[in-house]
Amino acid sequence: MKDKTQLLHATDGDEIPSNTSGNPTFASILEKRVSRRDVMRGGIAAAMAGVFASAGAGALAAPGFLPPRAQGRPPFGLKGELGFTPVPVSIADTTVVPAGYTARPFLPWGTPICGDYPSYVDGGLNTGADQECQIGMNHDGIHFFPLGSGDEANLHGLICMNHEYIDQPKLHPNGATIVGGARVIEDEVRKEVAAHGVSVVQVREVAHGEWEVVKGEYNRRITAGTPMEISGPVRGSDLVKTRYSPDGTMTRGTLNNCAHGFTPWGTYLTCEENWAGYFAYRSGERPRELARYGVPTGNTRYRWDTVTHIDAYARFDASVKGLSATEDYRNEPNGQGWIVEIDPFDPESTPVKRTALGRFAHEGVVFAPAQNGQPLTFYSGDDARNEYIYKFVTEGRYQPSRTRGDILDRGTLFVAVFHDDGTGEWRALDIRDKAFRDAAAAAGVDFRDQADVLVNTRLAADVVGATKMDRPEWGAVHPQTNEVYFALTNNSTRGGASNPVDAANPRANSDFGHIIRWREQGNRPWALRFEWDIFVLGGPTDDSRKLDGEPLDETNMFASPDGLWIDHNGVLWIQTDMGGSQQRAEQGRFGNNQMLAANPYTGEIRRFFVGPLGQEVTGCISTPDNRTLFINIQHPGESGEIFPQVASNWPDGGNARARSATVIITRDDGGVVGT
Ligand code: FEO
Ligand code: CA
Ligand code: CA
Repeated sequence: MKDKTQLLHATDGDEIPSNTSGNPTFASILEKRVSRRDVMRGGIAAAMAGVFASAGAGALAAPGFLPPRAQGRPPFGLKGELGFTPVPVSIADTTVVPAGYTARPFLPWGTPICGDYPSYVDGGLNTGADQECQIGMNHDGIHFFPLGSGDEANLHGLICMNHEYIDQPKLHPNGATIVGGARVIEDEVRKEVAAHGVSVVQVREVAHGEWEVVKGEYNRRITAGTPMEISGPVRGSDLVKTRYSPDGTMTRGTLNNCAHGFTPWGTYLTCEENWAGYFAYRSGERPRELARYGVPTGNTRYRWDTVTHIDAYARFDASVKGLSATEDYRNEPNGQGWIVEIDPFDPESTPVKRTALGRFAHEGVVFAPAQNGQPLTFYSGDDARNEYIYKFVTEGRYQPSRTRGDILDRGTLFVAVFHDDGTGEWRALDIRDKAFRDAAAAAGVDFRDQADVLVNTRLAADVVGATKMDRPEWGAVHPQTNEVYFALTNNSTRGGASNPVDAANPRANSDFGHIIRWREQGNRPWALRFEWDIFVLGGPTDDSRKLDGEPLDETNMFASPDGLWIDHNGVLWIQTDMGGSQQRAEQGRFGNNQMLAANPYTGEIRRFFVGPLGQEVTGCISTPDNRTLFINIQHPGESGEIFPQVASNWPDGGNARARSATVIITRDDGGVVGT
């Protein structure tokens, strides 16, 4: 989802800035690494060219950041150059792919996948009950779980995908019906709840590049109302006891599912990002576990709570109403902000909120390559302005074919601190850790137990001095080298009193964003220290920088990186979520949102794909043979005050309402995509 300042839906309330801590910003650290003279002379992109070649940072000079076992040769089967002709920017209402490739829309919002398979009807005419059996809205993270072995695994599998939020004007015939501030048509709310969450759908290839839904036993919709188990240290805590779950072991629904992850044991992880605005607290001063996440005190985003006679909707009002927490929903927001594990191969399974991984605006989650007999490490970014990057290291050791999801219930959550000399460290957010307890005491913050720490993850990270980042989005871990890449999409609030801008920080107010990467000490993902550098600074041709020190050009300029994925051949895929003002010639000239391919070893970047009008490109996965790529197109035709002329009818054409959809991309000669 786009930054609120670039958006049109005033009620969306996403990415709410709520970090009032005095922790240092990433921009201020960059500033220290870049001499003021260089910045004055040529902007930060030019200055950055000197940073990693300067004395003391020689070990990080680019290229050459890959750990020793990959040094001297390109990783995987990557050749010296990417193997396709880059595509130009586009402002057409269609998909653009390189010569020799074909893109086909698949699984648009409303596609029937289960129950009695109700057909999609244009004009917002399907019912709430229909939506419960159809693909949800606003596709985001996506994963492909192969079914079968050998070549069958490339032709048949389960797709799991997230549905981040809803677009009410498209969902209903005439948008949301609100009378006197309240939702007066129950079925509209039922449909909205059902359009959120996750879809699990069995698919198979029927001809080269053409896939169909299989009416299989695995097909399933998980929504903003599905019962879920609370697992890990927060299970049973007073902070998650509600009228629905007096013992604090269950909650309902997953909200605003943005990026995703998966586990080595074959389960899907869905991440709860901008959930705060779905709730409201109207009982005076908000407790810290609501205030630090920006839970509003006025209206809820979609006003589901105004259907007061239905408990499943009334629960979005988190105000104090009863004598204790088990009589109302004051703790309902504490059931959101987690990573949820879903077993796509067990359609009867209850999704599990894995609370040990922390509570924040999780963009996504990505694990370092699993090593037999070693702890597992998961990375996750908190996508709000000036929030942090985290990692979780399991207490248990990974054992192939034996490890299951409960390994995620015990371990240590860390937050990243980036130092100005190109090193960094992970600081534990764990009540068993003396340094953490001392930091909390020094800050005058009291945590009762680890459940309290985890429900208040942001506060815990404030306490240890984590580095404020420019909206951490997706991460990707190089499956051969363990190097970690993270997209920092932009930060429009830099410039306020707590995030000052000066001559040495010319990009602080920029929307262009960058991709940071780091290498853990000793190439051990569970290490406490790391080295970092900048893989690419996004931006136009006169204010950007690639790994080789050169600026981006017409074949690869982009801004606001968001989705990242490294494929089975080592290609780093970069997806953009630029606001309207960046897309059009007069202000940004980047065109519609796009996807690029990068070689992590050489730093080469080429534009591979451009999507239709008003959308963002998000989510990327392939079949195991890397010959079929699945990506998601979210919110085509989203428009507003900035560009009211952005109207889309993709993918159906004619006068049809635009629909989010997956896109299948294949090479016409059946070859490996991207190389
Ligand atoms: Fe849902 Fe941070 O994008
Ligand atoms: Ca984004
Ligand atoms: Ca995103």
